Amino acid sequence: MSNHLKVLAVSAIALITVAHASQPETTLSPVEQLGRSIFFDRQLSINRNQSCAVCHAPGVGWTGPDSDINETGSVYEGSVGGLFGNRKPPASSYATPSPVFHYVIEDNTALFIGGNFWDGRATGEQLGNPAADQAKGPFLNPVEQALPDIACVVYRVCNPRQPDNYPVKFTDVWGAEACNINWPLNVDEACAQTDGAVMLTDVDRLKVNSTYDNIALTIAAFEDSTVVNRYSSKFDAYLAGKKRLTRKEMTGLNLFTGKAKCANCHVLSEGPGGEPPLFTDFTYDNIGVPRNPDNPWYSMPTDLNPEGINWIDPGLGGFLATRIEYAQFADENYGKHKVPTLRNVDKQRGRNFVKAFGHNGYFKSLKNIVHFYNTRDVKPACPDIFTREIDALAMNCWPAPEITANLNTDEMGNLGLTDKEEDAIVTFLKTLSDSSIDSDR
Ligand code: HEC
Ligand code: HEC
Repeated sequence: MSNHLKVLAVSAIALITVAHASQPETTLSPVEQLGRSIFFDRQLSINRNQSCAVCHAPGVGWTGPDSDINETGSVYEGSVGGLFGNRKPPASSYATPSPVFHYVIEDNTALFIGGNFWDGRATGEQLGNPAADQAKGPFLNPVEQALPDIACVVYRVCNPRQPDNYPVKFTDVWGAEACNINWPLNVDEACAQTDGAVMLTDVDRLKVNSTYDNIALTIAAFEDSTVVNRYSSKFDAYLAGKKRLTRKEMTGLNLFTGKAKCANCHVLSEGPGGEPPLFTDFTYDNIGVPRNPDNPWYSMPTDLNPEGINWIDPGLGGFLATRIEYAQFADENYGKHKVPTLRNVDKQRGRNFVKAFGHNGYFKSLKNIVHFYNTRDVKPACPDIFTREIDALAMNCWPAPEITANLNTDEMGNLGLTDKEEDAIVTFLKTLSDSSIDSDR
């Protein structure tokens, strides 16, 4: 987090526009509607059983909808049974305002901003928007939708088995040429195999590439729509002067922007495109999240995870190391993750529903993550670096951070909040949940 942003937090509330809050929630343009169909289409995975929404469900704030998974490993199984990635799904909402990944020099260090994913590696360099670059990933990721070839995605979007699921057809938006491809007879067979290859002429391969890019842009259009980025929370109504916060919510807001320093990173100033507050400045920090002992990645086959139980999530530093122009900054960004939006952070299904927080889902309640910010550097270290949150709380310790390098110690760790103040912050966070609409599931 950078220092100049601290100043903004104080005066932010007065600056906010309410343009988004008054838009109708359910109107989608044709391209947005098409993007919605693609986002919810389980056919777009190798076993026809996984859509984007399986890991990003609207009813829980566009993140993982399975309470049991959230309570344990927090990582969602891919289309191929038994295969898991290594991180918790962040919200896929409020991801489109993130700027194209870049850095600015501040106090003689490079401050990275923007991109999608916890480590920013969906930069937006390809399609001009990080969310569109991001959308090209999951369909082909072996631990997610696992299709063997982008041609399979194009084939299934252009020729849906359940045409009713596509009230707007791909060609309605992108023209007939987009799907005018000579498919080989064995395309269905090839797309059902992890090592399948779709044989195409050079001309058709070029068309597939451009249609695939347009599929990604279509998904990003949906993600940028008012059905996803609703700005319809109680807090938005408060900013618009239409609702009051309770005394406790107000206390929480004041702590959030003041003593607890949350708004230093989860900023309340306008978004990069003049959006209402997004509760992230799209920068990166190492807040010291401990290892999640239940992360299924630790026990993945060695071809996926050669380090086994010794695997450490490098965060932003890991991505920077892969890029020649950024590699010099990798060490100083090791262990940092993108500041997530806090919009919908409490949105859930029912009272006993568990949500997971942090890049690996270590934290199982808002109260507990706020308690961590408050006491990380006050409590003794747990004897075992692999200690579940529930056990750490019982033993009154915190496990060592997964990575101790680059740990933020000026803005957190010993906030001196009382138990009641922690509760007030949680109460405030609950005002950030958008209203639900009929199509949420
Ligand atoms: C198996 C679960 C799974 C599926 C399926 C899945 N995602 Fe995700 N998604 C994740 C995880 C995990 C991350 C974080 C990965 C990381 O940071 O390395 C993520 C990250 C994202 C982000 C980044 C948000 C941000 O603010 O950085 C977006 C947007 C997103 N997914 C959209 C999609 C779309 C669109 C699809 C379908 C094409 C999809 N996801 C399919 C699990 C999933
Ligand atoms: C120095 C910047 C910074 C400050 C200050 C800060 N956060 Fe965060 N916050 C982050 C980053 C970075 C993450 C993700 C870290 C990770 O997962 O490794 C995060 C994650 C979270 C999450 C998890 C969200 C999710 O979707 O998983 C919550 C909730 C949260 N912060 C709330 C707060 C509150 C409340 C405060 C004040 C008590 C606060 N933060 C202060 C940077 C900050």
